[in-house]
This record gives sequence, C-alpha cells and structure tokens, in this order.
Amino acid sequence: MEIPALDAVTVEVLVDNFYDVFEPSRPGLVERVVPGRLKKPLVAAHGLAFWIGMTQNGRETRILLDAANSPLPLLNNLEALEHDLGQVDALVLSHGHPDHFGGLVEILRHRPQLPVYLHQDCFHPKLLITPRGRVGPWQVVREELVQNGAQLHENRGPAVVLGQALLTGTVEGVTDYEKGLPGAKRVVEGAEENDPFTDEQPLVMHVKGRGLVVVGGCSHPGIINMVQFARKLTGVDRVAAVAGGFHLTAGGDELIQKTIAGLVDLNPEMVLAGHCTGFRALTRLALAMPDNFMVSCVGTRLIVDGRSGTA
Ligand SMILES: [Fe+2]
Ligand SMILES: [Fe+2]
Repeated sequence: MEIPALDAVTVEVLVDNFYDVFEPSRPGLVERVVPGRLKKPLVAAHGLAFWIGMTQNGRETRILLDAANSPLPLLNNLEALEHDLGQVDALVLSHGHPDHFGGLVEILRHRPQLPVYLHQDCFHPKLLITPRGRVGPWQVVREELVQNGAQLHENRGPAVVLGQALLTGTVEGVTDYEKGLPGAKRVVEGAEENDPFTDEQPLVMHVKGRGLVVVGGCSHPGIINMVQFARKLTGVDRVAAVAGGFHLTAGGDELIQKTIAGLVDLNPEMVLAGHCTGFRALTRLALAMPDNFMVSCVGTRLIVDGRSGTA
C-alpha cells in the first residue's frame, strides 16, 4: 500500500512514563525540551501520547497518537509545550488499553468533530490477570466517542490516514519470540479470552531519503513484527526511526535479547523507546545501541527531515 514520501516528520512525546531533564539531545535528530523555558512544568505519567507533525510541500498535518492515561498529564503537557488542540487534524488510537485512551473523551470535548482512527477490535472490553490480581475491565465505548463528536474511522486491515500515513491494521506475526502479553484478556460477546491484540497497529510514515518512521503504542504484537509488517506493506525497507513502548519485561530475557538483536538488524538511525519497555530492556538497549538508542522522555522531539538528512 503506497504512502507518499514526506519532506519531514516530527514525533514529539507529550506523555510518557519518563522525564529526565539531564538526558542529552542529539541535535537535528532528537531534541530535548529546556524546562526553564516552559510556561509550566511537564509531568510524566504511566501512559503515552505523541504529537506528530507531517510536512509535505510546505504544509504541516498534525496527528495526536494516543491520549495518555488521563486528561491530567495530557492537557497539562499540551499547555506546557504550547500546543493548540484546534490545530490537530486527527487522533489515532494505537490500541484499546486505558493508558492510551484515558484522555480521549476530554480531548473530544476540547476539539469537537475530530477524526478518530482506530481498529474495530479496540472496542472489546479488556482486562489483565496480574500477580497482584485482576485489573479492569476497561473499554473504549463507541457511543461515548460519537456523542462527543468523534468522526470515527474504523479499520481492520491497512488504512491511510489523511492521505499521508499508514495504519497497518492487524499486525501479521513473523517472529517466533514475540508472543503477546501473558495474562492479557479481552471480552468478546460476553466470553473472556486471551487477547490476541488484533487491535494494536503502528502508525507508519515514509520520509524521503530517510525511510520509515514507525510509531507504536505498547507494541503488544511485538515491535519487530510491527516494523517488519510496515516494511512489507509499504515496500520500503529502510527504517529511519522506531518510537514507542515495546513492552519487553513480561517475556523475560529471551524476548529482550532477541528483540534487541532484531532492532540492531533493522539498523534504524534512532530507536526512541519508553513507556512500557521496562527498565531492564531500556538499560540493555542503551548498551547494545549506544549510538542510535535514546530514552523517550516527555518533551522530546524526534525529527526526521528528508530535506536536511544524511541521505
Ligand atoms: Fe501502554
Ligand atoms: Fe497496552
């Protein structure tokens, strides 16, 4: 499925689990915010939201990818980073977990008639069986979104967003080590079942001369599966950047090691990982990819500009 080669893409971290003002920038590729220049403090939270800008022929299109765990960090950080929700052209929901849709209804109240892109399976109630017991269920309620003015664009297979980015649809699994999240359940027609995470899909953009920018939420289908599927669908092999949460802790050391080997193999210019990646996996990524891994903190901007790139 063809998507246009864009002039530039920026992925700005609005909400993530981390905030470390001492993490360095990589000028031109990963720029960190200067806290002392902000109109109010940023806050970190267990959740994810990105402000994505796509530039083509001098015009920027803006996508909000995910809506954090609640309106609290999301609205605070939008204000701190001086972003106006009126400028958002669409919201994309990566999957149906509450640390990604928690601020969605409030966003709709601030930005009526917002186009919202999501997989049909996001609407199933979801829950987790954890060592500390059952949590959930949570649910994205279609009627609530519609009542609050959302213009829904539901997909199951690949879909193009605003003519510029690709949502892959249900990710095709190709690796033998990415097996999903143990204990994750969903409810379909009243029956509880293991969650196959058919609903989770990355947002994929193509920057001319640089390659793909693949942005995931929790990456429950596996970040390597997601990137490989993006390459297959677009026909673009080169990967400029991979961003998001990789959810590597629950699978143990084998999952961490094989996923890092897979990322090294893909050889992206930058891996910007945060959220649910897990402390052990982050530290190992930092050791394995010293020149092209950075931790995703709130206020971080990943910049992939085909007009000033290394190509
Ligand atoms: Fe998550
Ligand atoms: Fe998740």
